[in-house]
Amino acid sequence: MILPAIEPPGTGQGMPLAPIAGAHTGEVAWHRIRAAYPQQQPLLNLNNAAVSPPPLVVQQAVIDAYLLTSQNPDVNMWSKLDAALPDIKKQLAGLIDCAPHEIALNRNSSEGLSTAIFGIPLTSGDQVLLSPWDYPSMRAGWLQRQQREGIEAVTCRFDWMASDDDVIAAFEAAITPRTRVMQLTHMFHWNGRVLPIKQLCALARAHEIITVVDGAQTFAQMPVSFRELGCDFFVTSLHKWLGAPVGNGMLIVKESQTERTWPLLAPFEQPSSGIDKFDHWNLGTYNSALQAGIAPAIRFHSEIGVRNIHARLQELTRYWVGLARDIPGFRLHTPLDTDDLGAVSLFSIDYVDSKALERELREKHLVHVKYRRVEHVEGLRVSPHIYMLKTDLDTFAVALRDVIEHAGR
Ligand SMILES: Cc1ncc(COP(=O)(O)O)c(C=O)c1O
Repeated sequence: MILPAIEPPGTGQGMPLAPIAGAHTGEVAWHRIRAAYPQQQPLLNLNNAAVSPPPLVVQQAVIDAYLLTSQNPDVNMWSKLDAALPDIKKQLAGLIDCAPHEIALNRNSSEGLSTAIFGIPLTSGDQVLLSPWDYPSMRAGWLQRQQREGIEAVTCRFDWMASDDDVIAAFEAAITPRTRVMQLTHMFHWNGRVLPIKQLCALARAHEIITVVDGAQTFAQMPVSFRELGCDFFVTSLHKWLGAPVGNGMLIVKESQTERTWPLLAPFEQPSSGIDKFDHWNLGTYNSALQAGIAPAIRFHSEIGVRNIHARLQELTRYWVGLARDIPGFRLHTPLDTDDLGAVSLFSIDYVDSKALERELREKHLVHVKYRRVEHVEGLRVSPHIYMLKTDLDTFAVALRDVIEHAGR
């Protein structure tokens, strides 16, 4: 892989992206990318699925913008910094293949998903299909509607390692004449399994069912096209795989759904119309300085390219699994041999307490992985990012072997 030369960005002035420029290939190029990120310390950060550090250029853009906002907040935030937002939406629309006027910017996936969950008009007796593997607070949102309004939240059960065909068959079997919405998680945050969203949305459309896709983990980690997925709502956090500052999210609403969907908070302007009613403007006062980091994050990400990023994340996952898989009792709870593989995977070791393993890795070796428990499965989630090197994963594997060797002694 050859990384293109990178010019200084338009935002975050004074902070060139130069560390990743150059005609280097392979591991050397990734060394240069690592140098463009804040140093991770004291822990080796293998929990990027939760939240990722922003590249230095993004960090600097936020600092610059924050200093600017402090001078004259009202004018500098709403008039100066926000003037860049239409262009930022255009760039995001280009990345995810939707129209700029279908995008609302907000703080995170939870906000975007809650907009859909609480905003889609439903009446008592209407059914919503969920899976056991959806993000817990999103399931809780639908369950709250069940309690408050008498809709029915129906859990469609399937094994998370099941084939795509079996998953589609499970959803198909769960659809009834009362099904109005399908809540679909693009990639499970538990184990990195990607669902066949395009086919599931086609199934939903055939039954006139609205689809809400939780893309918190897929956007910017792998190529995603809103048009191709064919969903009604797509939601993501820009602070995970895009590398935007923490506190940035994106909600995409298909034009045909905008008018009938209620906004999360009642908008300032009445009557309200169009995508604006879901936008940050109508979610109370927000921090424009954080949004000033989106454009440099897009630029940084685009210079590397989403296909290169996805391929690298797959490579890193396959690499660490290759180092660990001969440990006695090692079990991977993530499908490895698929093009959908990304940076998120879950493992456990038979007869080893995963919670204790997480603690030992952290306290003894300064390695940060995430304990996850859902339904009958528990284990440790590993999620590297593009600023990590294979040598980091060597460190992790050595630490893992050491802890396991001494476990129970
Ligand atoms: C699949 C999924 N959905 C929703 C969320 C919530 O994201 P946020 O905390 O950015 O709102 C996450 C966060 O990890 C997630 O992984």
